[in-house]
Amino acid sequence: MLTINHLYKRYNKFLALNDLNLHIDRGEIFGFIGPNGAGKTTTMRIVCGLLRANSGEVYVDGIDALNDSAAIKRKVGYVPDFFGVYDNLKVMEYMNFFASMYGFNSKEINETILGLLELVNLSDKKDDYVDGLSRGMKQRLCVARALIHDPELLVLDEPASGLDPRARFELKEILKNLGDMGKTILISSHILPELGEMCTSIGIMEKGQLVASGNVEEIAELKRANSPVHIKVISDRNEAITAIKEFPLVTKVSETDDEIIVDLNGEDEELFALLSGLISRNVKIVGFEREQANLETLFLDLTGQEDEGASSDEANEGGAQSEQEV
Ligand SMILES: Nc1ncnc2c1ncn2[C@@H]1O[C@H](COP(=O)(O)OP(=O)(O)OP(=O)(O)O)[C@@H](O)[C@H]1O
Ligand SMILES: [Mg+2]
Repeated sequence: MLTINHLYKRYNKFLALNDLNLHIDRGEIFGFIGPNGAGKTTTMRIVCGLLRANSGEVYVDGIDALNDSAAIKRKVGYVPDFFGVYDNLKVMEYMNFFASMYGFNSKEINETILGLLELVNLSDKKDDYVDGLSRGMKQRLCVARALIHDPELLVLDEPASGLDPRARFELKEILKNLGDMGKTILISSHILPELGEMCTSIGIMEKGQLVASGNVEEIAELKRANSPVHIKVISDRNEAITAIKEFPLVTKVSETDDEIIVDLNGEDEELFALLSGLISRNVKIVGFEREQANLETLFLDLTGQEDEGASSDEANEGGAQSEQEV
C-alpha cells in the first residue's frame, strides 16, 4: 500500500530524511516511532503530497506521491499534529467545508458526515462550535475530517499527544475499528506501549532513517539477539570469566555481586554453544539467562534518547531481569 524508496529531504543544508526506506502492506496499522526531529512529520507530509522531497520514490497504492499530488490527496487522509483555529465554525459546518474541498456537495455528503461523526463519537456535538471542543474531541473531529473522501491510507501525526488516558483509549478504539474496516494506517507517536498494543507493525526512525522495523515481536527479537546474558556460577568465578572470554563471540564481560554479565554477538545457537562450552570446562552454572527486551528499552537503545511517554514502571516491565540490572 505504501512504499518509500531512498527518500531524501533537505531543509537548506540540513538533511532531514537520509535514504529512508519503508514498506507498509494493505490493512496494516504501522506505528512510526522516533525522537523529536527524527523526520516523522517530514515523511508523513511527503507521503500526503504536502511537501516536496529532494529525491527518492513514494508510492501509495501504485500512485506516485512525488509527482501526482492531486491523485495522492484522494488516496490519503491526513491528521496533522496541530489542529488549527476555526472561529465561529460549528462541527457540521467544519465537516461540510472540508467536504466541499473534495468537491462533494453538502446534500450528497450529509449522510456520510453524520456517519463519520458517529464513528468518532461526536454525534451529540454536531451543532457545537469547533473551538469549544476539548482537545480529544478536536482530535477525533480531525480523524472524521480526514476520512471524508474515504481514503485508503490514513496518516496520523501524533494523534494521542496531549490527550488524557480516556481520550487516548477512545482514539485507540476508533483506530482499531478503522483497521478492521480495512484501512491502512500510518501513525506516529512517542508512546510506545500504546503503539505496541494497537499496531500490527512498527518502525523506529532516527536521524532521517528507519533503524528497525517489523512486527513488535520481531523487533523485540532483534533486540534480544544483542541483550546481555546473565550467568550465575557456583565454581570459581575467575576461572569462569577466563573461560567466557575465550569464547570468540563474547564482546564484553562484567560482574555484579552474584552474576557475570556477558555481551554476546549471536542468537540461540551461539548462546547454547557458550553454555555447553562452559559446562564442558567444568564451570558449574546454576543460572544462565538472556535479558528480555521490551519496547521501552528497545527504543532507548536504538535511539539513545529519553522517551517522554514512558514511566519508569513501564520501562521496568522486563520482570525478574530488571532486578538484576545494576
Ligand atoms: N520547515 C523546516 N525548515 C527547516 N528545518 C526543518 C523544517 N521542518 C523540519 N525541519 C527539521 O527537520 C528535522 C525533522 O523534523 P520533523 O518535524 O520531521 O521531525 P519529527 O520526527 O516529526 O519530530 P517531532 O517528534 O518533534 O514531531 C528536524 O531536525 C527539524 O528541525
Ligand atoms: Mg513531528
